[in-house]
Amino acid sequence: MQPVAVTSTPGGCPVAAGKRAGRQTAQAAGAGSKFCHTLPASLRAPLSRAERPGGRNSRLVVANTASLEAQAQQAPPGTPAPKTKYAASAEVVMAAPGVDILRVACTARLPEVEFNLRRGTTTNSYLLKGAGGVYEALIDVPSRVFDVDFAAQLSACGATDTLRHVIITRLTPERLPVLAAVLRTCRQRGIQLSLTNPALQLLNDRAAADETLAQALKGVQIEVVGRGSELRLSAKGQGKGRSLRFIPIPTPRWPDLTAVYSEEDKLLFSSNLFSAHAAPPGTAGGTRNAPRADWGWSEYGEDWKYYFDCMLAPAARQTAAALDKLNINASQARAGGTVSKMLAPLRRLADLVTELTMGADDGVAEPLAVAAIAPMHGPIVRQSLTELVGRYGDWTTAQLKAAASGSVAVLYASAYGNTASLAQAISHGITKAGVAVDTLNLEAAGLDELERALDRCSGFLLGSPTLGGHMPTQVQTALGTIIRNANARQVPCSVFGSFGWSGEAVDMMEKRLKDAGFRFAFDPVRCKFKPTPATLQLCEESGLDLAQEIKRAQKRKERMAAEKLSVAETGSGRALALGRVLGSLCVLTAKDGDAQGAMLASWVSQASFDPPGLTVAVKRDRAVESMLPVGAQFVLNVLAEGKDRPIMKQLLKPFKPAEDRFAGMQVQEAESSGAVVLPDAAAYIECTVSQRMEAGDHYIVYATVDTGKVLDNDAQSVVHYRKIGTSY
Ligand SMILES: Cc1cc2nc3c(=O)[nH]c(=O)nc-3n(C[C@H](O)[C@H](O)[C@H](O)COP(=O)(O)O)c2cc1C
Repeated sequence: MQPVAVTSTPGGCPVAAGKRAGRQTAQAAGAGSKFCHTLPASLRAPLSRAERPGGRNSRLVVANTASLEAQAQQAPPGTPAPKTKYAASAEVVMAAPGVDILRVACTARLPEVEFNLRRGTTTNSYLLKGAGGVYEALIDVPSRVFDVDFAAQLSACGATDTLRHVIITRLTPERLPVLAAVLRTCRQRGIQLSLTNPALQLLNDRAAADETLAQALKGVQIEVVGRGSELRLSAKGQGKGRSLRFIPIPTPRWPDLTAVYSEEDKLLFSSNLFSAHAAPPGTAGGTRNAPRADWGWSEYGEDWKYYFDCMLAPAARQTAAALDKLNINASQARAGGTVSKMLAPLRRLADLVTELTMGADDGVAEPLAVAAIAPMHGPIVRQSLTELVGRYGDWTTAQLKAAASGSVAVLYASAYGNTASLAQAISHGITKAGVAVDTLNLEAAGLDELERALDRCSGFLLGSPTLGGHMPTQVQTALGTIIRNANARQVPCSVFGSFGWSGEAVDMMEKRLKDAGFRFAFDPVRCKFKPTPATLQLCEESGLDLAQEIKRAQKRKERMAAEKLSVAETGSGRALALGRVLGSLCVLTAKDGDAQGAMLASWVSQASFDPPGLTVAVKRDRAVESMLPVGAQFVLNVLAEGKDRPIMKQLLKPFKPAEDRFAGMQVQEAESSGAVVLPDAAAYIECTVSQRMEAGDHYIVYATVDTGKVLDNDAQSVVHYRKIGTSY
């Protein structure tokens, strides 16, 4: 991949004087010239079929198609830059022969919903060695929110003297300062920066307003990569180098996402796919020469699944397309792999995708022989490769199937990621309830894609930041399309958005939809700048509420058929016999920062003497479920005979998202967790979640007992009698 000659526009912006199919090369401006704010047309990648007007990823064809970034610049500035720094550590560990990881690990709890398992996170940057055994290429940089001086770490391991390539599989505003520092610190002249077109657009937008970034890009060769782009490491005469193949796998949240495949290592750098947010103590405990061998399913299965649920389930169609494009064949490179077992779900998935995505143009790629997956977050996937790839197929299939019986369209734009975080939390609540989400980033989605999502949705949500007292153009255009859409008028909806001071966008969206007669499923969610855990909890519960409403409507439709079935089931010995299993009636309460949760629980049982432990079955779509990851504390209030009715009445009321479940009731707080203790209970027990098991439509939560107190020595515990095993 040779850089091509570069000339300058009158404004001093560099443009490539030549290009080759599928990619272009540009060089950042030399001394004195400014990096372009917006790419000149000649520099843009030719549009793929999906990107052409009307294609899946086409930009909205509207009068003003300026990026959100550019629209924000038209307004008075004032947003404080997010400066949060989380304590983190860095270390170099070996990923594979000739490939090291410079891993930044952080055990602090980050606020976004995807970190709810509270296992911290790692960001992996990969260092690839060239023919002389020196570091030649770097894949990815971490976010500046971690208090690690990444460029200094690179320097300490000698990489800044030798790096010739920096490859970006995903760029965010928070990574740009780190990228700038890395480029400034690298010593090799003409270092090459490879990234996709959407990432380059972000880089350009930011460089136009940020002199430090623009300076760091001087002399850097920028290579725009797309499907089929290859990068050969190590120059001629230095032996056989590595060849890296780029496989773009965009999603609405990450339009610039690309995977990178190294044929020589059979290593797939999968970026956010196959990631996990986990950095438990000891995770980073590998050594330079001995990668840990025990990073398996039992240790990380839950983290992989949770990451998928939060980040990829709301983009199931794009995830399916990404899996097709990658078409990972783990067994070709590993003995004992089960090809048919692994590929079968993917084939089924491919069929489903073809059915559900009209106009998909990419098809299934040739199988990719993969020995290990090197993701952006969490462990290298080696032992669990076949299992994780197979499960990704299964999970995606399940989402697509759920989508076939109704989905919620989550439509949003976000310049700085705050509205995107709200969308993520709402989507998580929806998928938790078993309803599919169809996410559309309005900045990247085509008009036809928006119309298709509206035509098939069972509900929709619209999110927007306020920029310069308005919603961005893309949201305004989408709003017009929504108001004209016949199906959208029939289904429940709501709006959400982040703002800085005035927050007009949410009010405008709410007013226009309400004036047009749309029915709101929950109150609009407004959030000042970055959402707090309580706001994210509100979003998740709002999503849950909407999903439950949709499910109720679906159930009503199915009732006639279902009634016949339930008559048979009611009469069956199985259901009646199961109904004879009893539990004591309790109220489980939990607290997470300023968010509170509670539920009635009767599927409770002591489970161990040593340590004293119990299990509670928690339905997957309970709002409090997300407050019960491993390590979280909760309180179990055992209800007392004669005092249980008012408590039950209170908790069985319908609640609005994040509404106080105990408003008007006398409650106390447990000492350690701060969760609600009911003074009228017979006893309360404070527990810590030790393990969770998936059990059909419930999770079995096993918790060890920390403390407990009998509040009324004379009280009898309430036993919850029921007639049949098909309900509580
Ligand atoms: C240039 C600029 C203009 C803005 N204008 C407004 C405004 O008029 N009213 C307001 O409430 N917030 C305004 N904000 C604040 C944004 O709404 C706030 O940063 C919000 O969190 C962005 O959401 P997002 O991350 O989803 O893009 C502005 C921010 C910037 C950078």
